[in-house]
Amino acid sequence: MLVLGGCRRANESTPAPPDASTVAPAPHAAAHAELPADRFSEQGMLAEAALYLDDPEFRRTALVDSLANPRNTYSRQRLDAYGLRTQGWDLLPVWNPQSIPATPAIAAELRAHRPLVLDDKAPRIWNGKRPTTMAAWVALGREVFFGYPLRVEVFMNWALEHPDVGERVGVRAAEDGTYPGVRVFTDIQGRTSLGITCAICHTSVGERGRVIVGDARRAFDYGALRLAYHQDTGIPVDPDLARRMKSWGPGRADVTEDDDEDPVAIPDLWGLRHQTALTQAGTIKHTGPTVLAIRQETQLLHSNHQKVRPPRELAYALALFLYSLEPEPSAPLSSSDAKLVPHGRELFAESCKGCHSNAAFGGPPMPAEKIGTDRALAFGGARGTGKYRPPALVRVSAAAPYFHQGAVPTLEDVLSPARLASSYAKSPLARGAVSGHTYGTDLPAADRAALVAYLRSL
Ligand code: HEC
Ligand code: HEC
Repeated sequence: MLVLGGCRRANESTPAPPDASTVAPAPHAAAHAELPADRFSEQGMLAEAALYLDDPEFRRTALVDSLANPRNTYSRQRLDAYGLRTQGWDLLPVWNPQSIPATPAIAAELRAHRPLVLDDKAPRIWNGKRPTTMAAWVALGREVFFGYPLRVEVFMNWALEHPDVGERVGVRAAEDGTYPGVRVFTDIQGRTSLGITCAICHTSVGERGRVIVGDARRAFDYGALRLAYHQDTGIPVDPDLARRMKSWGPGRADVTEDDDEDPVAIPDLWGLRHQTALTQAGTIKHTGPTVLAIRQETQLLHSNHQKVRPPRELAYALALFLYSLEPEPSAPLSSSDAKLVPHGRELFAESCKGCHSNAAFGGPPMPAEKIGTDRALAFGGARGTGKYRPPALVRVSAAAPYFHQGAVPTLEDVLSPARLASSYAKSPLARGAVSGHTYGTDLPAADRAALVAYLRSL
């Protein structure tokens, strides 16, 4: 279920998907032979750009090979329309929009009920030149991350017009006076509107407008924003929709286009290049930058109602930008915690590293039955694969609430047996037992404290 934007029309419901087995994969491109040995090295990423951008067979093959479960909605929509050359999304017009940051001055225009205008000279996201250096790719990716609209988002007008509402739902101005993730842009009909970008969910805005790019915006409460709009305007809202909007809570979103209800926590974007699978259910096998570029290309065109597609350079730039994101160091530990770290490290190596195995402490997807956490995402029709992927644990101390659905408020509780009991009650999402991922919960309290100290040091 995708409720963002709320402008999904009846005729935009998911088309009946073809049986994935009838979609012939493109023959493997000879280009595979030219793939660099290390696809995530700088040289590898620069070399792969030409394959992704110039070789349609390479793109189609990369897509087909990357889908962990060809039968979920995410895969079927893409198998049905991506990289087919003479049909589907390859035929969409390429869209390089004009887009400028939303600012308090623009909020004032909205409050005065003056129409938004973007003059002809307003910049487009891209100057049309393909980058050749890593620095230039990353700089372009940053423009896309902050500037390429995912769609018109009318509720953002409400947040900007009413700063109290904006503050409550996590739509805030940064130190530089812009609202990260909110842009004024010319939509595909030529109208000037507010839209949202990646940064509305994947960039936090803290005290005094301090921005952390790639950090999940855990204060962003889209459901509460929509409810505030209906309450304040008196415009009626479907009671079932209202119930769902309320149940989301901050920091969660359902980014799928089906009728399931599986909002999940917005993840931090650290350590992506170490993960062999993308998304929390491991929907995408992550073999190289093309796979992430395809995810972003298809996300941008899908969210814009499949009316336009982004220049592929922008999707590739976005991928390289995401790989460039590094977390800030974790907050320094208290001296008593610091003493526990070496013991915690040993315990982690014994009990956790088998799954949290890569350089970012994430790892390959594991059967969801084995992990035992909430089933909805892993077995849902939208992105389900029957698995959950161990998330990266870099800067995990700042990543609460935990697990894919964002149900456990502290690291202590992740490791505490109390969480597994029906008497557990910490938040609306943690009412009654939060089951699964019992690793470490059987350890003595002192060992659990050492593990928590170690996790805080990551
Ligand atoms: C409305 C909030 C929202 C917006 C806007 C959004 N995302 Fe996300 N993003 C999410 C959520 C929620 C997930 C988790 C999905 C899952 O695991 O199934 C996610 C997952 C991801 C992942 C996978 C991370 C991982 O750990 O594997 C990447 C990469 C990503 N988003 C990048 C982007 C980019 C780039 C944009 C802009 C084009 C964007 N997102 C826009 C909410 C959002
Ligand atoms: C069998 C594999 C496996 C083992 C062993 C394992 N984990 Fe995990 N871990 C996972 C998976 C999979 C998830 C994601 C579960 C979900 O979101 O439903 C996860 C999630 C987590 C999270 C939540 C992170 C977040 O950002 O939400 C933490 C913290 C964590 N693990 C710590 C540990 C520690 C500490 C240990 C050892 C005591 C451990 N894990 C052992 C597979 C494992």
